[in-house]
This record gives sequence, structure tokens and C-alpha cells, in this order.
Amino acid sequence: MIKDAFLSDPRKSGLDAEHPVSDEAVLQTSPHTPATVLLGVTGCVAAYKSAEVVRGLQKAGIRVKVVMTAHAQEFVGAATFRALTREPVAVGLFDAPGAPLHHISLAQEADLFLIAPCTANVMAKLAAGIADDILTTTALATEAPLLIAPAMNVRMYEAPATRENRERLIGRGVRFIDAEVGYLACGDVGKGRLADVDAIVDAALEALGHRRDLKGLRVLVTAGPTVEAIDPVRCITNHSSGKMGYALAEAALARGAQVDLVSGPVALCAPAGASLHQAQSAQDMLEAARRCFPGVDIALFAAAVCDMRPKEAASKKLKKGNDDERLSLLEFVANPDILATLAAEKSPGQMVVGFAAETDEVATNAQKKLAAKGADLIVANRVGEGLVFGEDCNTALLVDAEGASALPTMRKRALADVILDKAVGMLEDRKAR
Ligand code: C5P
Repeated sequence: MIKDAFLSDPRKSGLDAEHPVSDEAVLQTSPHTPATVLLGVTGCVAAYKSAEVVRGLQKAGIRVKVVMTAHAQEFVGAATFRALTREPVAVGLFDAPGAPLHHISLAQEADLFLIAPCTANVMAKLAAGIADDILTTTALATEAPLLIAPAMNVRMYEAPATRENRERLIGRGVRFIDAEVGYLACGDVGKGRLADVDAIVDAALEALGHRRDLKGLRVLVTAGPTVEAIDPVRCITNHSSGKMGYALAEAALARGAQVDLVSGPVALCAPAGASLHQAQSAQDMLEAARRCFPGVDIALFAAAVCDMRPKEAASKKLKKGNDDERLSLLEFVANPDILATLAAEKSPGQMVVGFAAETDEVATNAQKKLAAKGADLIVANRVGEGLVFGEDCNTALLVDAEGASALPTMRKRALADVILDKAVGMLEDRKAR
């Protein structure tokens, strides 16, 4: 029985049970390296909101580095950004002895230079090509697109010089997230308030070419193995790495979803922005997933759940010699099927995705699983001889009520986007009907 449980579980979800893949067979998707946004912070009361911009970008999987003007440091300290970004913060042209041409290295690292908030002064310097501090020098040196979120007093905003500077910058391809009308720090009411943090984050992600099609949607992902206790020190589990589930969570976050990640124990960091719910046993995992499930738009059950658990977990360690018989004759009971249980509770607006690994007749067996578990979509893959756990690639077949479509071998992070594309498409089709 123990042998059965050990051998069968990892193959069940198929997430970490792929064929070894040849280089040629791998769809050419680069290993996922996060884009880098260089965030420029200038001297304005709204500088404190830059901290929220950092968080918003990080939630979408973006690496953020911060460069500040001297005036910005009057409003918010570099230590805040150092702590949030876990990166050095550039504050002076000559403050990085290890990088003698700091402005050049920063300029080259950036995929996007976002200045939020941007003062009238810095806008004017950028328009004139003045480079008299680390921020403006880097702006002049970078080839990355420049995105500016201005914030200032209404009269400064409407001043002919500021308007002209804005037009000049737009003429050079610089993009603006215009200030909003509202109550200003000086007591005036008018245009000049820093745009909403979400609007700034969205504009930055759009400039980086990120899709935000899951914004407003809630996504639940189960990931990793479950651990079933025999006694306080022993357990049965499986070799699931959790990579597929974590890739799904990361992809959903990058596309703007609110993500609940229910995870068994894995050696991975949860993506920034995901609500992580840690679970040990299948029963824990079901409880955590059930708490999140109502209100979720897409639920992806990528966990490799142990089908069986010891009938009773001993409260004290079973001793060699004393408890040999109990240890060798462990009794097992079936665990709940999390996917099937929650799929039975789903409402028409919810999309449920399951995973399956098959050794043969992949499409037929996946089709059967689709019906048996009440899922809308099954991500199936063939497993067999060269079974490898914890790989970064997967070769999957998407099976729904309409039929099956085979995908090329690709990285799990790329596959995550393809699965989400399919789930969103099905959700939209259903709404349109
Ligand atoms: O039946 P099988 O284990 O092959 O089904 C795999 C799918 O069902 C995966 O999506 C997995 O996360 C889910 N599952 C589950 N609870 C179980 C067993 C499997 O949610 N107890």
C-alpha cells in the first residue's frame, strides 16, 4: 500500500512528470527573466506614493530599481526603497564606487524608465537635455522608453513652460500618464495630482508589452505535493516540485489577476503579490482551497495530491522494535479529491482546470477525467519511461468538451500563459452565450 501511494501520486497530476526534452523540441521561449523598471523619484509630496508603485510593479513580477533626486530624499528616504526593492538605490552620481559609470549601467539595465512623480523641474531638465544629477543623467543615457507621471501645483502644471516641455517630450516619443484633477497638497484644487497608482502600474506594464487581461479576475491555484502524516516524524508524500502551479500563479499575477496560491511544501518562493495559503495534508489543502473558491473566476488544480493517507496518524513516534507490526501494516484511507469536490460546487461563471498525467491514450483518458471530475479543461501530458521530476518544461495536451489540442514542448511559465489564454477564452465564450 505504501509503495502504491508513493509510486502513483507523482504521476497523477503529471505536473512534474514530463519526458526529457531535446533542445530542438523546446519551443523557443526564453527562461523567464523579469523585466526591470527603473523608477525615478523626484522631489514632490507625492513621492511617498512611489513606494506603492514599487509594490504594484513587483506584484506583476517586475524587478524594480530606484533612482532618486536630492529633493526627493527630503520627502522619502532611500532606505524605504532599498527595503522594498532589495536593491541599492541610486541617489548621487558618484555614490557607487563599485560602478564608476553608475548612470550608464543603470541606463542599460532598464527595460523602462518610469519617473513617478515627476516634477516640473525634472520635466524641464529632460526637455532641455540637462544632466546634472544621477536621475537626469541616466534619463539622457538610457535607450529604454521613458514614461512620466507628473505631479505638481495646478498653476505649475498649466504654465506655458511646462506645457511646452510636455509637448517636446511627447514629440520625442516620451509617454505621459497625465496628472489628475483633485485636491493638491498646497490646498489648491485643480489638475496636478499624481495619477492613480494602479493607472501608473498599468501604463508601465503596457509599455513593457504585458497583457493585463486578467485584471479584475480572481484566480485560485493549488500547487506542490501534499504530506500525509504517519506519526509526528514520518510521512508519505511525492516529488512534486510545484513549478507548474507557481508558474500559473506568476503568469496570472503578471496579467493582473488577484491570486490565491494554496501550496503544499515546496522549495520555491511564492510570487510577490500572491496570497499564499500553506497546506500540508490533502485535507488541509481542501479546506484552504474551499475557503478561497467562492468568488474565484478561474481555479487551476495543479497540486499533486496524495490519493491516500494513513488511516490514523500516531500521536507519538512509532518505535522501531515496539511498533514494527503497526509500521509494516499501515492502513490507508482515501483522501478527498479536491478538484472533483470543488468542481461539484462551482457556479456557471467559474472555470475549473485540472491536470492529468497519462502513460497511454492521453486524449481519451483525459477526456474521461474531464467528465469524471467535472472540470472544464484538463491539461494532460504523457508520462512514461524517462519520467523526470521538477523540470522546467512540459509537453501538454489541452482537453475540453470540444476535443483535444496538442501543444509543443515549452517552458512551464510559457505553458502557464497558454493555459490561462485557453481558460479566459472559454470563460468569455460562456459569457457571450
Ligand atoms: O485523478 P488524478 O489524480 O489523476 O487527477 C489529477 C487532477 O486532480 C489534478 O488536477 C490534481 O490536482 C487533482 N486532484 C485533487 N485531489 C486529489 C487528487 C487529484 O485535486 N485527491
